[in-house]
Order: sequence, then C-alpha cells, then structure tokens
Amino acid sequence: IEVLSVASEVYPLIKTGGLADVVGALPRAMAEQAIEMRTLIPGYPAVTEKIGSARTVARFDDLFGGPASLLACRVADLDLIVLDAAHLFDREGNPYTGPDGWDWPDNWRRFAALSFVAHRLSQGLVQGYQPHILHAHDWQAGLVPAYLKYGGPSTVRSVMTVHNLAFQGRFGSDIFGELQLPSEAYSVNGVEYYGGVGYLKAGLECADVVTTVSPSYASEIRTSSGGMGLEGLLNNRAATVLGILNGIDMREWDPAVDPSLTQTFSLNTLHKRYRNTDALRSAFSLEPSKGPLFGVVSRLTWQKGIDLLADAIDDIVARGGQLAVLGSGDAALETAVLRAAERHPGQVGLSTGFNEKLSHLMQGGADVILVPSRFEPCGLTQLYALRYGAVPLVSRVGGLNDTVIDANIAAVNAGVATGIQFAPPTEQALKDAIARVFSLWGDPVTWRKMQRRGMKSEVSWDASAARYADLYTNLLGLKSDDQE
Ligand code: ADP
Ligand code: GLC
Repeated sequence: IEVLSVASEVYPLIKTGGLADVVGALPRAMAEQAIEMRTLIPGYPAVTEKIGSARTVARFDDLFGGPASLLACRVADLDLIVLDAAHLFDREGNPYTGPDGWDWPDNWRRFAALSFVAHRLSQGLVQGYQPHILHAHDWQAGLVPAYLKYGGPSTVRSVMTVHNLAFQGRFGSDIFGELQLPSEAYSVNGVEYYGGVGYLKAGLECADVVTTVSPSYASEIRTSSGGMGLEGLLNNRAATVLGILNGIDMREWDPAVDPSLTQTFSLNTLHKRYRNTDALRSAFSLEPSKGPLFGVVSRLTWQKGIDLLADAIDDIVARGGQLAVLGSGDAALETAVLRAAERHPGQVGLSTGFNEKLSHLMQGGADVILVPSRFEPCGLTQLYALRYGAVPLVSRVGGLNDTVIDANIAAVNAGVATGIQFAPPTEQALKDAIARVFSLWGDPVTWRKMQRRGMKSEVSWDASAARYADLYTNLLGLKSDDQE
C-alpha cells in the first residue's frame, strides 16, 4: 500500500509543534507495517535548503498564481515530495505567520495549492507513482479530501487526521472561486461553513475516515464543550471517527544515546540522571536545590493552561520547588512567567524561543514535566517525559488522560502509577496537584518507582502504526490479517 501523507510541517526539516514530530515519525513506523509512505510538504526556505539534490518530477506553469515544481528526494530517512513554489512559500518567518506575527494573508491560497497538488498526484501526475491513500493532516491539508471528492471518479481513499480542532482554516466565501472546485462543492456537504469556506470542515466532511490523535479527544470533540462548533458534523459521522494515539520516535527520543543530554542514562543508570538536572539548573541560572525541579516545554497559549501555571508559580517556590520554562507564544503569558522569574530570582527561569536541544535536556533533567492544558488532542511532551524519567503532572484531558496513570491511592497500592493528573483544569486543582507532587517527592522510594514505571511505559508507535495499517487496509477493501 502506498500512502501520501500531506502536511504543513515535518521534523527534522520544519517544526513548530507536535504535528511535525508525528508527521516525521509516521513513515518509519508505517514502514514496519509494510506500508510505504511519502510526505508532501511545502518548500519553505528551511526545507529547500536542507534537501540538497532533488529530482524535479513535475512542473506547473501556473499553480495558483505562479510557476511551481515538485521535487522528490530522500532526506533524514523520509521520502519527501516538496512543493517548490516561490510565490507561495519562499518567505522568511514561520510557516503560517509573517515576521510581524500575523497570519500570511494568502494562507488560503498557499494551502489550497498544497492540497490541489496532492490530488493531482493521486491522479497519476508523476509517472510510476500512484498513491492509494491520501492522508491529510490538519486544516492545511483539509481540502485534500474535497479535491478528491469533487475531482471525478477515483479509487483513491482519504483519511483526515485532526491534530487540533482549534485551528480550522476559515476564510471568506470570496476565495471559493479561486479554489478550482466545481460550484456544487460550495455546499453543506462540501467546503461551505457558516457562509464561508472551512478547510478543516471540508476535510471532516469529505474524507472517507476521520481520525484524531487520542481516544479521549475523539470523544471530547463530539461534545458541545470540545467540538468547537464541529460536534454536529462529527456526531453525524461518529462511526467513522477514530482515536489513534500518537507514539514517539524511539530513536530521536532515547535517553540512553541522546546527544543533547549532558549525561545519558537508562533504567540501570538512573542514578546518573541528576547531572542533567544540574546542567538544567545552570542553563536557567537556578540555584542548587534539593527540591523538585519542575519543567515546562510548551507553546505559551491559553490551550496549554499557561495562565494557570503563572498563578501557581508562587506555590511551587513556597514549597521549595523550582521551575524552568522553555516556550514562546502569547506576549501576555510570556510576561506573566517573566514576572514570576523576577519575583523569584534563582528559583524560576524562562527561556523563550524554540530550542530543540534544550527541550531534550529538559526531559532528561527535570524532575516533573508540567502540562496543565485546557484541552490536549494528544500531547507529546508527557510521552517524552515518561521515557526520560521525568514525572508528568498533567490535566486530565484528551491524550493526557490516555497516557498518564494518576498516582491515586489505588494506583499507588497496585503499583501502576506513572504521574499525577488533575481535573478540572483550574488554578485550584493545579495547586492541589502541586501539593500532591510534594508529598510524593517526600517519599523517595515511591518516587523512584514511579519514575521507573514511567520509563517502562509503552510510548512507541508500534500499536498505533498497526491501527493505521488496519485502517488503510480496510479502506481499500483489502483483507487485513491483523485482527484487533
Ligand atoms: P503542540 O503540538 O500542541 O504544541 P505537543 O506536546 O504535541 O504540543 O508537541 C509539542 C512539541 O514541540 C514537542 O516536540 C515539544 O518538545 C516541542 N516544543 C514546544 N515548545 C518548544 C520550544 N520552545 N523549544 C523546543 N521545542 C518545543
Ligand atoms: C497538536 C496538538 C497536540 C498533539 C500534536 C500532534 O499540535 O495540540 O496535542 O500532540 O498536534 O498530534
């Protein structure tokens, strides 16, 4: 089976969040299931400068307003097809926003072009390459299933994966005329959404199957509180909405060999881990301490509950803990964390910007990784934490709910706890959870056991890759020998 995965980011070429990690890890995970996966991505400067020698496999004289070509190459173990279109992607800055921080005004055109090209590839645009499945990720690829549905008869099937329902790609109706879709696509069964065009909505409506990145999030998005306006649509097709949990790339994230760590370690050498904690303290100018070091690696946004964290910082310090925050995002939230750091010099530190290497040291050095999200489709940082022996402290939502076993009395007695959960995502519940962390920390034997259990948790792609393989196989009407 040949699958074309379509996305706006892929690690290690371009990454702003977990989407890139997942899109970058899937092909190797699927290869173990005998599924061939190529990945179609935009040719941002960060991408074109890393791909070296690539083959031009198709050219367009006019793709949504300018010439474009498709470059095929193999980089970092990934089979990529790069959409090289200077008028759309050759710009400095973020994949989605200009240097001023605002969305590029032509994002609708940039990502329509990406989806349009995916559909053309499914029609045999490149000789010798015929994908059987188009796998679209998030709103940037949301039109892929729509182009397929309205593009005439095809045996190619589509999967739409939701990594975050909060980003929907909604635009005015005026763009519809330029999408090169037939007029009937502007309907409630197509791309129309509340009088405009909805890219994610289009994908959810037109795809053969919708998946999201954890079972809990798959339930949450069908409720009025979690559906962000799309719960009706998702309920109508409930039988074809699946939650398949993300895994992590076990090669990129392996504390036994990770070059970003000051000290590598494994279950048998856990006693050496403190050297990373020391290194982390110096990186954030924190004083030596015997208290737990809390770490946060996150976009600083409302989704991630960073305002709740800001309110709880004084509590962490008052109890003898320290905090290191690696993240960037909303200016007001950055300021709130910065103020806390100023209030508690040597106890709280903030590093803004995107720093892949430091993010690994955080996992390998922090005692606790804090993820107080209001909603979380899957979340990867708590999975990295588990593997790296940092105890996750998480809100009980979405994928956080599915991946961390709360240290309640029953779980501690049964010897299965791997972290601490709190609910609902409020300041008070977070503070109560922080209190629980300190009482567990006060019992080093229990703490060590929890760390070890976390490190042994199943966080790989194995089970989920098998589920995607089943899904693809069933979609194509092929027989699957892999029974669930
Ligand atoms: P989301 O995709 O919603 O941001 P995830 O937990 O799924 O959340 O993935 C976040 C990814 O981005 C992780 O790989 C995390 O390590 C990384 N990350 C977030 N902020 C930073 C940062 N400031 N520097 C480096 N990596 C970061
Ligand atoms: C999104 C979600 C995050 C998820 C990631 C990868 O960015 O916010 O929860 O882990 O996608 O699927």
